Amino acid sequence: MATYISHSPDETRALGEKWGRAAKEGWVLGLSGDLGSGKTQLVKGIASGLGCPARVHSPTYALLNEYSGGRLPLIHIDLYRLNGRSDVIGAGLEEYLTRPSGVTVVEWIERWTAGQVPEAHIQQIVFEHISEFERKITYDHSLA
Ligand SMILES: Nc1ncnc2c1ncn2[C@@H]1O[C@H](COP(=O)(O)OP(=O)(O)OP(=O)(O)O)[C@@H](O)[C@H]1O
Ligand SMILES: [Mg+2]
Repeated sequence: MATYISHSPDETRALGEKWGRAAKEGWVLGLSGDLGSGKTQLVKGIASGLGCPARVHSPTYALLNEYSGGRLPLIHIDLYRLNGRSDVIGAGLEEYLTRPSGVTVVEWIERWTAGQVPEAHIQQIVFEHISEFERKITYDHSLA
């Protein structure tokens, strides 16, 4: 795992932008970390790195937002309100995690992995609060 210390929302978005530029068809990024730890900020950066013109909003109520118009479609999923794997399946979201297309970014991936080792194709990104503006972002080496 690699670690990045972000000192501002801008730095977190810039990291996402870099990954958005590098993203390949079929990528699944699984984001975990507390409320307000910066997951959605990262997704905003990914969208801009992909060249998506739309503004990204957290899909907490919709569960899933899809943004087109960029180099690849961006599927943004937020599992916060779901309780576990069976809820994710019940919501019809399993295929986005197991047979992905475009670039899929999943907030609260731990709802899906539920303590198990995630599927090998899911690249893990973990956010931790350090202070008001500092976040520790740990990610798979494959993203570096
Ligand atoms: N270094 C930083 N990186 C990202 N966000 C930061 C940073 N410092 C402060 N913030 C603030 O923290 C908040 C992060 O909110 P964001 O919606 O991205 O969190 P989240 O992890 O998606 O939360 P949730 O689990 O509720 O969806 C924003 O208000 C942002 O301005
Ligand atoms: Mg969020």
